[in-house]
Amino acid sequence: MRLVVLPGVLRPPTDCRMLAGVVAERGLARGASVLDVFTGSGALALAAAAEGAREVAAVDVSRVAVLNARLNAALNGLHFDVRRGDMFGPFDGRRFDLIVANPPYVPGASDELPSFGPSRAWEAGTDGRAFLDRLCAEAPDHLTPGGSVVVVQSSLCGEAATLAALAAGGLIPGVLARRRGPLGPVAARRTRTLERNGLLRPGEREEELLVIGGTRAEPAQSPPGTAAAKAIA
Ligand SMILES: C[S@@+](CC[C@H](N)C(=O)[O-])C[C@H]1O[C@@H](n2cnc3c(N)ncnc32)[C@H](O)[C@@H]1O
Repeated sequence: MRLVVLPGVLRPPTDCRMLAGVVAERGLARGASVLDVFTGSGALALAAAAEGAREVAAVDVSRVAVLNARLNAALNGLHFDVRRGDMFGPFDGRRFDLIVANPPYVPGASDELPSFGPSRAWEAGTDGRAFLDRLCAEAPDHLTPGGSVVVVQSSLCGEAATLAALAAGGLIPGVLARRRGPLGPVAARRTRTLERNGLLRPGEREEELLVIGGTRAEPAQSPPGTAAAKAIA
């Protein structure tokens, strides 16, 4: 797949590739309707299309990101339904077999979120959960029976909190992949704030990247394994 990244849009980082790898390994996108919630350049939407998604939709709050995702679809001869807006807002009332998300999740010094500019790609409040908690709460209403949400995040913003939030929404949660490594570039510049807020132990300079999934149970009477249900449990 060809991918261009316009100025002001996040170049797909390691976590994006890790999430795409999990989707590919588990065949989650095959034949599925897929929503990429924080699409940026559209890298995860493209990855889903490459893995055989039946239809691909995507959302971003940034105008240039929406343009970028549409451009990348066109460059690859694909059609994505890319809409601008806040998370699930533009797809109110729609359900998908698979929701993929690489949300902003870097904890910062303030709970005030930027309303414009490139930092919208990573700023996520003092605990890093501003978007993760919303995603976990809102995703169940946008999943088909047997459908899954798959999200990538740092251990800095809480593995247990995401598992609990997905379970609270009635999904079956699980950690699908984890990888320990040095802090990402933004977090590495914030070690003092992270230590002060108890998100990093003194002197610790590593984090784990986690791919976490939640699957909506299928009703007992329906044939299992139609959508992304094959995947996660
Ligand atoms: C970490 S980047 C992920 C980009 C891409 N999915 C990737 O993996 O490379 C997060 C993206 O979320 C977008 N974003 C931030 N707040 C949003 C919101 N409220 N609704 C939708 N998208 C948002 C940002 O503009 C940015 O493109």
